[in-house]
Amino acid sequence: MSTPEKTIVSRAQFQTIQREAAAAMARDTELIRDARDVLVRADQHRWLHQTTWMGEPILNLPQDMFALQDIIWRTRPEFIIEVGVAWGGGALFHSTLLEVLGGGKVIGVDIFIPPDLRGRLAAHARLSQRIELIEASSIAPETVDRVRSIVGDSQRTLVVLDSHHTHDHVLSELRAYAPFVGSGCYLVVSDTIVEHIPAQKHRPRPWGPGNNPATAVAEFLRESPRFSVDRELEDRLLLSCHPGGYLVASNDP
Ligand SMILES: C[S@@+](CC[C@H](N)C(=O)[O-])C[C@H]1O[C@@H](n2cnc3c(N)ncnc32)[C@H](O)[C@@H]1O
Repeated sequence: MSTPEKTIVSRAQFQTIQREAAAAMARDTELIRDARDVLVRADQHRWLHQTTWMGEPILNLPQDMFALQDIIWRTRPEFIIEVGVAWGGGALFHSTLLEVLGGGKVIGVDIFIPPDLRGRLAAHARLSQRIELIEASSIAPETVDRVRSIVGDSQRTLVVLDSHHTHDHVLSELRAYAPFVGSGCYLVVSDTIVEHIPAQKHRPRPWGPGNNPATAVAEFLRESPRFSVDRELEDRLLLSCHPGGYLVASNDP
C-alpha cells in the first residue's frame, strides 16, 4: 500500500492559506451568528471573567488576549496604556510581553484601584516594575496629562480602552487617547460585543445595544480617517468580545 505523498508548503504559503481560510470563515454568516450566540449564552455564566494571567484575573477572552499578543509582537510598542485595570491581570499580561520583547512601561488607568492590587502586582517582581497605575477618571484632562508626562513624545503606543462602556464615555476616551497612537500602532476598543448582547437582566448596566463601545467606534471612525478596523486580524478570531474594535492607525495624517 503506498502512502500519500506529503505536501510541503513554505511558511509564506502557509500564511496565505490561513489568511484565505480566515476570510472565508468571516463570510460564513451562520458560523459567525453561532459564535456570537455562544458568547451571549456563556456570558450568562460569566465566561468572560474566567481568564487569568499568572494567577490574576483578566476580564477578557483568551482569544482576544492572543490577538493582543499578536499586535504587541508585530508593532513592538514602547508603552501600553490600559484604560480600565480591574484585577490587574491585563496589566500583568502586557508587562510580561514588554519584558520579553523589550518595551517600556504599562500605564494602567482606573477610577478605582483595589487596596491590595499594588501589593499583588509587586509579588511579580520585575514585571510589576514596568507597571505604573494611575487612580483617576480616564477622561479627566489631568489624567490624560499624567499619561502624556510618562509617554512623552513616543508614538509607539498601544492603547486598550476597557473602562466604562457607554457611548459618550468611550467616545471621549477615543478622542483623548487616539493622539498617543502613532502610525501602524493600535487602539483597541473593548467590549464592542455589547451591541449584540440583549439588555442584561443578570447584570444591569448603563450600556447596551445602541449605547456602547461599538456605537462610539462608529462615530469616532467617521471623524478620524486616520484609523481603520483591522478586519484581517478579526477574521481569524471567530470568538471575540471586540468585533470591529481592533483599530489600526494608518501612515496618513
Ligand atoms: C472591564 S473592567 C477592566 C478589565 C481589565 N482591562 C482586564 O482586562 O481585566 C472595567 C474597569 O473600568 C474602571 N472604570 C470605570 N469607569 C472608569 C473611569 N471613568 N475611568 C477609569 N476607569 C474606570 C472600573 O473601575 C473597572 O475596573
